[in-house]
Amino acid sequence: MAPFGAPSGRLAIFPGSFDPLTNGHVDIILRSAHLFERVVVAVLVNAEKQSLFTAEERVAMIREVFREYPNVEADTFDGLLVDYARRRRASAIVRGLRAVSDFEYEFQMALMNRHLEPTLETVFMMPAEQYTYLSSRLIKEVFTLGGDVRGLVPSAVEPWLRGKKQESTPVR
Ligand code: PNS
Repeated sequence: MAPFGAPSGRLAIFPGSFDPLTNGHVDIILRSAHLFERVVVAVLVNAEKQSLFTAEERVAMIREVFREYPNVEADTFDGLLVDYARRRRASAIVRGLRAVSDFEYEFQMALMNRHLEPTLETVFMMPAEQYTYLSSRLIKEVFTLGGDVRGLVPSAVEPWLRGKKQESTPVR
């Protein structure tokens, strides 16, 4: 099977919503950065999906957290992931698998992406056990309702969350 374009080193793309980045994402990014020469954390720009943070804010957060990792980059993408991967000449897509419940959706996506671009591999990684119950959706819910999210998101993400809370608090 001929690779599409020449892969640039061993570049992996870790795509997602990252609304916001959690410690589970960080765990997968660090594992990927050990395996691949370069990891691009690619934030999907999706005008149809309601998000707490703008894509630019999410990229800024990721850059802040990984500023000391020269082989980790943050970027945005829209349209098909395989088209973005082609443009970046990536050799793999990385996705995290937390539990069996993730499997069906991830399996469908991986096979659809393979159908669209047979030479692009999807690599699944498992986060450390303490992060298997984490999701951005739950972080937002817990934080919005006043719960403590310390240790669940990178400390650099906490002020971003507090900022959003202030933005949404009506000034009397
Ligand atoms: O963090 P998420 O929301 O689970 O990430 C989902 C994501 C961004 C990986 C997925 O929705 C995606 O790749 N969207 C881009 C559009 C696309 O390529 N769709 C076909 C893939 S099967």
